[in-house]
Order: sequence, then C-alpha cells, then structure tokens
Amino acid sequence: MDGLKRFGVSMNKELLEKFDDFIKKKKYKNRSEAIRDIIREKFVEQEWEKGENVAGCIVIVYEHNIHEIVDKIIDIQHKFSKYIISTQHIHMDEENCMEIVAVKGIVEKIKELYFYLKSLKGVKYSSIVKATTGKKLK
Ligand code: NI
Repeated sequence: MDGLKRFGVSMNKELLEKFDDFIKKKKYKNRSEAIRDIIREKFVEQEWEKGENVAGCIVIVYEHNIHEIVDKIIDIQHKFSKYIISTQHIHMDEENCMEIVAVKGIVEKIKELYFYLKSLKGVKYSSIVKATTGKKLK
C-alpha cells in the first residue's frame, strides 16, 4: 500500500475483546482493515452532515394502482433529473413495485428528492443509502 503508516492503539481488554468479536462477525481479515473501514464510514457520514457532494440510493416500495402515483413519481424524477444517475423498477407482484433510484449531487437536493418520493400517497416503504462518490476517500 502506498504511503502506509503504522500507529499503535491502546484500549482496555474488554473493549478489545468486543472489537475482535465484531471483526469476526463482520468478516474483516484483521483489525487494521476494520479500523480503516470504520474511519471511512465516519468520513462519509461527515460528507452528508456537511452537505457536500455525495452519492447514494433511494429505495421506495409502493402500490402502483394508487391514483396517479406512477405519474407523480415520474414527474418528480424529471424535476430532479440532474441528480439521478439511474433508476431501476421492479414489479414485486400484481400490486407492489420497488424503485431504486441511484443519486449523485449535493445533500440538500438529494434529501429534497427523497422527501418528495417518501411522502407520496401509496408509498409503503422508503429508505436512503447514504453513500459517497468516493472522491475524498483513499
Ligand atoms: Ni411495477
């Protein structure tokens, strides 16, 4: 690894045991890999807190028979087309659809899009995966 630096970490025995259990459960190869991953997760959280340029996924599950919901979803997506990388529509069964919307842009706009979709009548479930463009991570 380029520019690799080492540092020592001190912690009490109980905390280290818990950490090692965590590493095992999460399938990390070693403590260093787990620590790097946790640090990166914190940096991604900060990108979202600071309102930076981010990436992510919005997932909604809805009943497509509810009055005009499909048109409304399409209208909203067109309004936010600048921030949408791609969408995937999955017909779950006769009534239910899932839509996965991959997004990229400033946090304010991504959240605005999420809240518009989330609050539509007929949306049964919604969530957002707060990811990153990866630009600021090594
Ligand atoms: Ni469908």
